[in-house]
Amino acid sequence: MLCKMAIYIRNKLYTYLIYLLLLKKKSYIKISFTSTSLPILLRNIDKIGTNVYIGNNARIGISRSATLIIKDGTQINDNLEISCNSFIEIGENVLIGRNVFIGDNIHNYERIYQPIIKQQLSMGGKTIIEDDCWIGTGSCVLKDVVIGKHSIVGANSVVTKDIPPYSVSVGIPAKVVKKYDFEKERWIKI
Ligand SMILES: CC(C)(COP(=O)(O)OP(=O)(O)OC[C@H]1O[C@@H](n2cnc3c(N)ncnc32)[C@H](O)[C@@H]1OP(=O)(O)O)[C@@H](O)C(=O)NCCC(=O)NCCS
Repeated sequence: MLCKMAIYIRNKLYTYLIYLLLLKKKSYIKISFTSTSLPILLRNIDKIGTNVYIGNNARIGISRSATLIIKDGTQINDNLEISCNSFIEIGENVLIGRNVFIGDNIHNYERIYQPIIKQQLSMGGKTIIEDDCWIGTGSCVLKDVVIGKHSIVGANSVVTKDIPPYSVSVGIPAKVVKKYDFEKERWIKI
């Protein structure tokens, strides 16, 4: 009981410290956020840029040796879930809708006689969302994908493979439906 209380108080202190450090650089995570690894998030705080906003109920899980980068000017709306076991980078001026999941790992499930919850998370994944992207509400961005610069992911999409820059992708799995044509200077339906 005492131990649980101590952890609760420690976590509250970490949360306020993260909050204050972010406010110093005009970035902001709504205070209701939770993290499975607050001390590690605190060590990664220099990798969160200026003018970054993360809305209510963000849940950020980050492993000891992992890197989470969120660059300047990025806005993430409520109910974000990040599962960062190796490397996740969100570029500058990215707009992310509500209820979005971004991960760089999966639960290993190979061993059928062991519950999946007891099998380790995969390591070594890399998930990158480049500058100026817009990720629609309810989308999932899975491990080992790069979403190219200024691309759009439609609402409720699941991104399982790389998305080229200057494109619009929708669906499960997300597929390109529009691309910007630099010669015609307009978006073209595919
Ligand atoms: C992706 C999006 C931006 C595309 O808008 P658009 O450029 O006007 O594209 P269109 O409406 O011409 O759609 C192109 C095709 O993709 C389909 N499509 C669009 N969005 C889709 C989605 N989220 N899921 C599945 N299909 C979708 C359209 O039905 C259309 O298909 P068709 O060619 O067979 O008719 C928009 O549909 C969307 O999902 N916006 C996200 C909204 C959101 O999450 N807002 C939160 C604010 S942060």
